[in-house]
Formats: sequence, C-alpha cells, structure tokens
Amino acid sequence: MPDRAHTSDAVLPARVALDGYLSPVDAIRDEHLLQRACYVALEKLAAMDVPQPAVADAIHATLQSDTPIHIADEELSLFPRLRARAEADDDMETLLATLSAEHSSTRADMQALIALLSNLALGGMPDARGRQLMIQVAALEKKHLVLENAVLLPLAAARLTKADKDAILAEMRARRAEAAQARSCP
Ligand SMILES: [Fe+2]
Ligand SMILES: [Fe+2]
Repeated sequence: MPDRAHTSDAVLPARVALDGYLSPVDAIRDEHLLQRACYVALEKLAAMDVPQPAVADAIHATLQSDTPIHIADEELSLFPRLRARAEADDDMETLLATLSAEHSSTRADMQALIALLSNLALGGMPDARGRQLMIQVAALEKKHLVLENAVLLPLAAARLTKADKDAILAEMRARRAEAAQARSCP
C-alpha cells in the first residue's frame, strides 16, 4: 500500500498507507519494518566515508514526519486502550512505562539527529560526535522495535476488542490526514 512521500524511493520502503488495514496491530507492525530499515540505513550512514545526501534526506524525511506520528499512535491511541484491557498477569504498567521512557529518550535525541541529517542531506559529513549519535540512536531504536514486536503487539492483538481496533485505526487515519493537510499548506 505505497503512499510515496519520501524523497528517495530507492533508499527506504514506502510509507505505510492505512487504507487496507483492519487492525492497527498489523499497521504498526508494518511501520516497524519501515523504521527498522531506516535505522539500519542510519547505521550505514554513520560509517560513510563519502557524502550520501540522498540517504540522509530519506532518513531525515522519515524521522521528521513519521516518527512523531507513530509515537502519538502508540502513546495516545494504543497504550490507553491496552491499559483498560490489561489482565492481572500482563504486567502491562511495567511494559508501557518502559516503552514510554524510551519514547521520551527518542524525542530528546531527535532534534540533534534531525539537525545533523539536514546537514548531511546538503552533502555534509558527520564528525565523530555525529557518528556516535547516529549509532546510539539506531541501537536504541532497534531494541525498542524488538520489544514492541515481541511483547507489545502480541498483547495488543490478544487484548484489544474490535471496537478498540476500529477506534485506534480511525485516530491513526485522522493524524495522518492532519499531517498531510499541514504539509500541503504553504
Ligand atoms: Fe512502535
Ligand atoms: Fe514505540
């Protein structure tokens, strides 16, 4: 379901379009595939010995436009409904607290990383600190994806009702429509 809004088709997979999804769990899992590709590309970029502006530009577009929306989907739409459906043995609060702390860490790193990628997209090269930032963010985010794919999404699939899933998907679609409208306004 391609909705190509990234600047380089060759660098990263297409953005996930939500039209055909019946469950937000499947949509989030597919967004995780794109994110993983993004962080693998970021690790490779950290090791570059010549400028790679197209790669930097594609990663920049994903991190700047899509990551905040994905985090909002989880924090504002998924987590509250999972809390409401948690069963005693789920240890849901511990899981969600861990993931929320990781989201806060992501937000804290993102401003510096996006500024760095803007420079690399113009043909710049990273210094040692910039390379370290890219490696550090990629490692943390890949670990976050493993936890969400292995624990969060199976719990979501098991606990959410159809009404929950419909409501989450509707909110995800509304977030993307709002973002698309904001992008189209000068
Ligand atoms: Fe996620
Ligand atoms: Fe997350």
